[in-house]
Amino acid sequence: MPFQTLKPQVSAILSNSKMDVDSRLSELCELLRKNISYYDWVGFYFANHEARTLHLKAYAGEETDHTVIPFGKGICGQVAVSNENFVVPDVKGQDNYIACSITVKSEIVIPLFKDGVNIGQIDIDSNVLDPFTPEDEVFLKWVNEAVAEVL
Ligand code: SME
Repeated sequence: MPFQTLKPQVSAILSNSKMDVDSRLSELCELLRKNISYYDWVGFYFANHEARTLHLKAYAGEETDHTVIPFGKGICGQVAVSNENFVVPDVKGQDNYIACSITVKSEIVIPLFKDGVNIGQIDIDSNVLDPFTPEDEVFLKWVNEAVAEVL
């Protein structure tokens, strides 16, 4: 499904005040995983800036052991420090990478800012090699801005 078609559904989930925010985030993860063929795992990590750790808050896809990730570790931990998008076309090319599943071939992590502070990120794993384009980055930045508004 094209990104433009998904946007109203993302907005509808996030503005559903009948659900708590964690449930809305879980539903959002499911929506993206189900409708974008190469999104195989979708999750949101949020930062504890004092402990310098990321904590998994919501996800869709296989269960992961990596519910807490120190700043600097893996692709996620690097984004917590860099504040920059990180697109990994082939995870085999990364030495600072935390493998969640042997089927994962690529990953994209986009930081989530609230009032200018990097408070977390959306993390997507794909079983496809090199699937992400600049359109994914634009769409996921939009998703994160929409999430920031309900936090
Ligand atoms: N691969 C990530 C770890 C999180 S899992 O993808 C769910 C990383 O290197 O930070």
